[in-house]
Amino acid sequence: MVSRVIPVDPFDLVVFGATGDLARRKILPGLYRRFVAGQIPETSRIIGSARTEMDDQGFRAFVAEAIAEFIDAKKRDAESIARFLDHLRYVSVDAKGDSGWPELAALIRPDVVQAYYFSVAPSLFGDLAERLHRHGIASPEARIVVEKPFGRDLETAKALNATLAAHFAESQIYRIDHYLGKETVQNLMAVRFANILFEPLWNARHVDHVQITVSETVGVGGRGAYYDKSGAMRDMVQNHLMQLLCLIAMEAPYRFDPDAVRDEKLKVIHALQPVAPEDIVRGQYRAGGPGGNGSSYVEDVDHRDSRTESYIALKVDIANWRWKGTPFYLRTGKKLRARASEIAVVFKEVPHSIFGDEEGWRENVLAIRLQPNEGMTLSVMIKEPGPGGMRLTEVPLDMSFAEALGEDGADIPDAYERLIMDVIRGNQTLFMRGDEVEAAWAWTDPIIAAWEARGDRPKAYDPGSSGPEDALMLLHRDGRRWREIRE
Ligand code: BG6
Repeated sequence: MVSRVIPVDPFDLVVFGATGDLARRKILPGLYRRFVAGQIPETSRIIGSARTEMDDQGFRAFVAEAIAEFIDAKKRDAESIARFLDHLRYVSVDAKGDSGWPELAALIRPDVVQAYYFSVAPSLFGDLAERLHRHGIASPEARIVVEKPFGRDLETAKALNATLAAHFAESQIYRIDHYLGKETVQNLMAVRFANILFEPLWNARHVDHVQITVSETVGVGGRGAYYDKSGAMRDMVQNHLMQLLCLIAMEAPYRFDPDAVRDEKLKVIHALQPVAPEDIVRGQYRAGGPGGNGSSYVEDVDHRDSRTESYIALKVDIANWRWKGTPFYLRTGKKLRARASEIAVVFKEVPHSIFGDEEGWRENVLAIRLQPNEGMTLSVMIKEPGPGGMRLTEVPLDMSFAEALGEDGADIPDAYERLIMDVIRGNQTLFMRGDEVEAAWAWTDPIIAAWEARGDRPKAYDPGSSGPEDALMLLHRDGRRWREIRE
């Protein structure tokens, strides 16, 4: 299979916060990979910008180091790095003052696609938006890209939306949820809406329940100060898991078009029911784990009394015709047994078994693996081979995207690469609209407010485990079980 690189128009992309962690780890190396793929037009420029004083050469050296650190040696070479670096410029600007802006204005070309990536703290969004306008830099079609966290509740999200809306139209704002850039996540839509096979079964009559798991092995790392104010609910559920749930649950949009897709996702969020306290389990990792000497969550965030969750599992119902009666179980956490993310659609049993009470009888499960080893497995029951009557056994119809797609599958672009190219193309399908973000907070806020009012403490769990014991009960009491977390 030959991978197709769709060309984009020439652009000026300004990365604010160009010396920050996200730019170094994801944005700049991702742009290099797109360059190698032949997707960056000859006349395009990537303009780094931050408060740090630096010249073009200094920035190029910084980016060269980032490429060496984050791009596999087999996928980079000195010649293409040198050619890529030629596209780079650097301007130092002060987000809160006027210095540097006239220089930036002089550099930007009005007749190419303009994109401004705000890879900075949300408290600076307003300042950047305002100065881009005051200095007459942004063209009427310019696009701005903003990162999560998009607010920490409905009120702050509304305020951020209003700040951006003061200078940019919704059609110019690209709110990144990097999960939407993951190959398998987009494949969810392809699987659902490009095959006739699943749709007739995709409803409460045939689906017993859905499990969405995003399990991480890492702890909170150096982000303790941010994370302790967020917790797994704000950091992962309100955005990433919510987006996955929407793609599984939404109706077919009338067209694969940004607003048509986002309208359907929004309807799902509106239909999410409040979550009862007994349907939530929050956890926090203690010290220990494999090797026995890992630090605890409270040590990692340096907050002895912290009640923030590093793990959450919850059950939510969707009140609409398609899903009434099919619970969705969501779980995510840090320092768990394996890095494994998957969506499992667990179908109901056959209405009547002609084989009697067979041992080993299992439901059909469609499991979509997001990472690692992206792919899909459909478990089906077959006859155990050999004589001796009709015994049944479960076998997987297993498809690894890497194997199925050959080289193309092995070289799946990183989420950021795809999303940045979508910004340049002006395609908002994989970005969150303002009303979607607000609706997600409107569902999340009362859940958090309720556990804060009760003064709930998260349950301790061992690093390297699959989370707190109580999370098992969440399914056991409904006569169900979590799928094993495996890499
Ligand atoms: C980020 C969260 O949005 O997603 C992190 O802030 C989390 O806490 C990360 O680790 C997970 O992303 P991925 O792509 O590694 O699954």
